[in-house]
Amino acid sequence: MEFKLRKAEPRDVSDILRLVKELAKYEEMENQVTLTEKDLLEDGFGDTPFYHCFVAEIQGENSSDDPKVVGFVMYYFTYDPWVGKQLYLEEFYVMDQYRGLGIGSAFLRHLSDLAMKTRCTGMMFVVAETNEPSVQYYKRRGAEDLSQEEGWRLFRFDKSSLVKMGTPAEE
Ligand code: COA
Repeated sequence: MEFKLRKAEPRDVSDILRLVKELAKYEEMENQVTLTEKDLLEDGFGDTPFYHCFVAEIQGENSSDDPKVVGFVMYYFTYDPWVGKQLYLEEFYVMDQYRGLGIGSAFLRHLSDLAMKTRCTGMMFVVAETNEPSVQYYKRRGAEDLSQEEGWRLFRFDKSSLVKMGTPAEE
């Protein structure tokens, strides 16, 4: 089955959100997705994109069918003051029935080329501890498990903590 990778366009936001929800469901956290297509449109395709996306498309059985978006990768650039520019891989997903065709490897090849072109020194990402197939998928490709090897812990201030710490609203 032939696939094609291309840069996501504004018309792709409904497919991107569909795949975001599928991945969240796979990770058993579907109810945590509150994002809307409008958010994706504003945040990824405005003057200052907060994320970048590539999608994988498969041509339908008939040449008159629209191609189907079957996977995506979402990433952005971050900065590490010890070593400089880094890519951050935020989401990486291929629909179940299209796995094993090399789409994931093609996405990673694309990101590796991009990282080299932009002189990034690495690519960071988080994997759920329970997602053992993906932990192994990344390890087979040389990824280091920093939680295990260097003892880093992932933290977050949620919105209520930020509101509490921020400047009190004027009466
Ligand atoms: N069918 C075929 N291969 C599968 C598979 C399946 N259902 N599930 C896992 N695999 C393994 C194969 O053994 C192969 O491993 P290898 O290349 O290291 O030997 C690899 O996955 C397939 O490689 P490839 O075809 O390049 O990747 P892909 O297009 O199947 O995509 C993922 C890889 C990780 C994006 C995809 O498996 C996926 O979406 N998984 C669920 C979501 C997820 O965990 N995302 C990452 C979150 S951190």
